[in-house]
Amino acid sequence: MLRESLSDNTISPGQPQPRDPLHRYSPGPCVASPPPPAAVEVSGGLKIPAVSVFLLIKYLKSNGKSSEGNRLPPGYMGLPFIGETFSFLKPHSATILGEFMDHHIARFGKIFTANILGEKKVISTDAEFNWFVLKNDKKLFEQGWPSSFVQIIGKNSLSMLAGDDHKSLRSIIFNFLNGERLRTAFLDDAEQVMSLLMSSWKDGSLISAKNEAIKFSFYVMIKEILNVDPGEPEMDKLMREYNELIKGIAAIPLNLPGTSYWKALKRKMEEREKNGDENPRILERYDLLNWLMKNTAYGLEEIGDTLLQTLFGGHDTTSRAICLMVYFLDDCPRAVQQLREEHLHIVKKKEEREESKLRWDDFKAMEFTKCVINETLRLGNIAGFIYKKSSREIEFKDYVIPHGCTVITHFSAVHLDPNLFENPTHFDPWRWMGSSDIKMKNFMPFGGGPRLCPGAELSRMEMMVFLHHLLLNYSWELAEPDHPISLPFC
Ligand code: HEM
Repeated sequence: MLRESLSDNTISPGQPQPRDPLHRYSPGPCVASPPPPAAVEVSGGLKIPAVSVFLLIKYLKSNGKSSEGNRLPPGYMGLPFIGETFSFLKPHSATILGEFMDHHIARFGKIFTANILGEKKVISTDAEFNWFVLKNDKKLFEQGWPSSFVQIIGKNSLSMLAGDDHKSLRSIIFNFLNGERLRTAFLDDAEQVMSLLMSSWKDGSLISAKNEAIKFSFYVMIKEILNVDPGEPEMDKLMREYNELIKGIAAIPLNLPGTSYWKALKRKMEEREKNGDENPRILERYDLLNWLMKNTAYGLEEIGDTLLQTLFGGHDTTSRAICLMVYFLDDCPRAVQQLREEHLHIVKKKEEREESKLRWDDFKAMEFTKCVINETLRLGNIAGFIYKKSSREIEFKDYVIPHGCTVITHFSAVHLDPNLFENPTHFDPWRWMGSSDIKMKNFMPFGGGPRLCPGAELSRMEMMVFLHHLLLNYSWELAEPDHPISLPFC
């Protein structure tokens, strides 16, 4: 996945963020090899690990080219061991693909092989193959998360589960995040959080869009999963802890005894077990914690993992999308003007029905807003690519993908393909007006298939609420020129 970060010079000062926790993968062998001897002694008594000699011979034989001889997608193996890792990881402007991808697509076509971290990985920039991978998740492909990440996010979280366990938890989470609750309670909560944030924005002052978007989506998520309100001291502790975790992703897992997260969760679960439905605060609303306690036989650890993954999945992604939307709009006054007209019309409708709150129907009626959100997701590429691993040998068109091979489904490359989207690096929300099926076929910001993001509608709604209140109450401009940067990871 690509990670966007706006530097300190923008409307949204802040450090480039660290690697994204959501979609990382664990390297898996593409080609099974016989185990080499432990070490080989060369002249002068220097010992070189035998595995290095083994790899070097293999590399020299391959002449630096991807040599499966057969039908593995074409590619270049680069330098021994490190392969093309550094060029792949090179940061670049977030609204372009970067040198590595441009060069490889031009040289090898839409599906190619690259040596990243000493392992052949297949990179697909082909929309058809990407859909094939996504749709066949759990049948022909599986997740490939690094073990360090599994420890942090927890082995019981939705992304880690497979088979029936995944199916049943997914349906519980999906039902919680969608339906009536999203249209009423979540929408109300998002509006309340936004009003609270705006109450601290002073006219003419410098506001960090990035920080405000982070606070907004964090507050909304914590409210929905644990029913903690922005003003409560617990909220600040949770945010501090979460930020620590994100900064040093390999540090301490959050879902462990001693952390504020664990303590809050334990206390809430005990309280709810004791008081059941009698507690008016619980009756008043139904958060994900309660939902899981009622619909699963999960204990503290499993519930903790599930809530954490929902927070990971929902907070970081949505806040980046909001921040990028504000950034893109700064450069597109015509879109801001059209949006304002649309949102003033919604205000009129609210007045006519003598209500101050937004309704789900209002959101559905915001045709141009939806175009702006789509365009932000396309150009912003929040989840630029994800990692899957083949669970058997797979034939696709002329290619054979070996069993155990990591496949990077590159969404950004599809979203920025000039053959699919005219002038693709340009922010053009109008391209989504009267959107055709073809365009939607090449649009995969939330993945697809059995792991399609269950929070897609929630994040769209959050983007809409943020935009609605921003447009009606403020005008804005970048404090200094800036550009979001993508930091690929592996
Ligand atoms: C702009 C915002 C978002 C983007 C771009 C995004 C993107 C994605 C993508 C591409 C996947 C598929 C990963 C895969 O195939 O392994 C995914 C899965 C997931 N997302 Fe999101 N997401 C966003 C917002 C959210 C929100 C708001 C939530 C929850 C509140 C959420 C929760 C999840 C969960 C739990 C999964 C795992 C689904 C599964 O394995 O079945 N996401 N997301």
